[in-house]
Amino acid sequence: MEFFYAKKPKGDVKMTILVTGGAGYIGSHTCLELLDAGYEVVVVDDLRNSDAESLNRVEQLTGKPITFYQFDARDEKKLDEVFTKHNISCVIHFAGLKAVGESVSIPLTYYHNNLVSTMALCAVMNKHNVNNFIFSSSATVYAQDNEMPLKEDGHLGCTNPYGWTKFMCEEILKDIAVAEPVFSVVLLRYFNPIGAHPSGMIGEDPAGIPNNLLPYITQTALGRLERLTVHGDDYDTKDGTGVRDYIHVVDLAKGHLKAVEYARKHQGCEAVNLGTGVGYSVLDILHAFESENDVKVPYVIGPRRPGDIATVYADPQKAKDMLGWEAELGIKDMVRDAWNWQKKNPQGYRKG
Ligand code: NAD
Ligand code: UD1
Repeated sequence: MEFFYAKKPKGDVKMTILVTGGAGYIGSHTCLELLDAGYEVVVVDDLRNSDAESLNRVEQLTGKPITFYQFDARDEKKLDEVFTKHNISCVIHFAGLKAVGESVSIPLTYYHNNLVSTMALCAVMNKHNVNNFIFSSSATVYAQDNEMPLKEDGHLGCTNPYGWTKFMCEEILKDIAVAEPVFSVVLLRYFNPIGAHPSGMIGEDPAGIPNNLLPYITQTALGRLERLTVHGDDYDTKDGTGVRDYIHVVDLAKGHLKAVEYARKHQGCEAVNLGTGVGYSVLDILHAFESENDVKVPYVIGPRRPGDIATVYADPQKAKDMLGWEAELGIKDMVRDAWNWQKKNPQGYRKG
């Protein structure tokens, strides 16, 4: 069977990008950057972990329309209708389930959602001769025995079903790119996205009690949560707390535009880290948040969280060399914008 045989479009025609999961945290910020850059944007999202209000706000901020379809990205028939109706040139696939702990409890749901949506998209892209695919991968695909900073050719291996879904999707996409050389895939391995658009109109809106550090801090600062628990202060790091590579979500979104440009002009499959190359500890983040925003965040030191490791940060050189992208925003921007979003939207999108 022939896969992905169409010729690449020539010239500088503005493309229509299909963004799955476009109503979510990273997707909405990326839609905004795409529209600002002049792309047409079509979103498929079933809103299982998001609210269409994010897309309304992106439209308000950009003054440009988004075509939105609410359905499950595993539905090949509906995807086929979208590809028939729109002249899609590239797919950015954000749609997926992403909570590590939940993936341990309901692994089949995670494998089914994350793998089948990726394969359904590839099948429909094949049918419609669409060759450019940008995939949301994660630093979680790196095995724990790598030295820091993490390079793209480091050992891969995961410790939970969520991580394996990303690993397996990467393998599927690599295999397709080998079989069909015209297929162009960029596997973007995100480090720790935080922050929000500086307008405070779009941001991270987790359901329930947050698992990740920044939403936990912002909701504690707001008084919705009593206090932050720092998960361990006995790691081999400068202050004993875990060190991560936090990246502003607007920088991350811009990385996707660079990946789209790259995919258009190249073939094959490349994995690329999107991180800053700088590691901050939990206490660094907490103190930066307090001093930049002039607000107190009560906290206690608790035990280590199972599965965590001491230090994770990226080598961002490949993104610079290959995509011409590097993070521009710093830790002060990240904590300021996260708080600005949370203050303006104390209940997230749902309720003003
Ligand atoms: P998010 O939950 O805010 O966005 C994901 C979106 O996909 C949501 O709007 C959800 O409703 C939608 N969705 C999920 N399954 C779907 C399906 N089958 N069909 C249609 N829509 C579906 O998450 P995010 O933080 O924006 O993450 C986006 C992607 O990046 C995910 O694939 C995630 O695994 C990956 N990622 C995120 C992080 C992070 O820290 N946020 C880190 C690494 C990788
Ligand atoms: C987590 C996921 C990872 C995913 C990433 C981005 C785990 C084990 N890993 O990474 O797969 O790609 O999110 O979504 O869940 N912390 C606290 N108190 C808190 C919350 C976090 O001290 O209430 C600490 C953590 O121990 C860690 C740091 O803050 O040192 C960052 O944690 P988090 O935001 O959850 O991200 P990761 O664990 O790096």
